[in-house]
Amino acid sequence: GAPVEVDHTKLSEGQLLNVEWRGQPVFVVRRTEDQLAQLEEVRDRLRDPDSEVVEQQPEYARNEHRSRDPEFFVVIGVCTHLGCSPGYFPEVEAQPFDPNWRGGFFCGCHASRFDIAGRVFRGVPAGTNLVVPRYKFTDEDTILIG
Ligand code: FES
Repeated sequence: GAPVEVDHTKLSEGQLLNVEWRGQPVFVVRRTEDQLAQLEEVRDRLRDPDSEVVEQQPEYARNEHRSRDPEFFVVIGVCTHLGCSPGYFPEVEAQPFDPNWRGGFFCGCHASRFDIAGRVFRGVPAGTNLVVPRYKFTDEDTILIG
């Protein structure tokens, strides 16, 4: 499939843009300072917090925020359990079903939880972090996915 261009200046803080690439949903999130602060808070609840165990991302996303630029997160919106598309939950209040999950991505099919960098929590059906596709910034306003 052809690469897809995203004008990220359209995104307000905390907003998610869903674009299609190769027949799959790709999420682009402009993360807030609060969301970035959560990355450290939840790390001891995660299976692969530094994306070191499983190849789910290009080299430049093998870090805590799983992105080239901490503010912008690009991820394939497909659950690594059985392929449903997880929902985006930007809220950080404690959730009744899992007080350790502070928002991010939740798959309604079998309740897999991921943080705001798509890192999977322990004890859920999905075994690996969400997949980060190849992408780059082509100018100040534009992300090219693919
Ligand atoms: Fe997402 Fe099963 S497909 S939890």
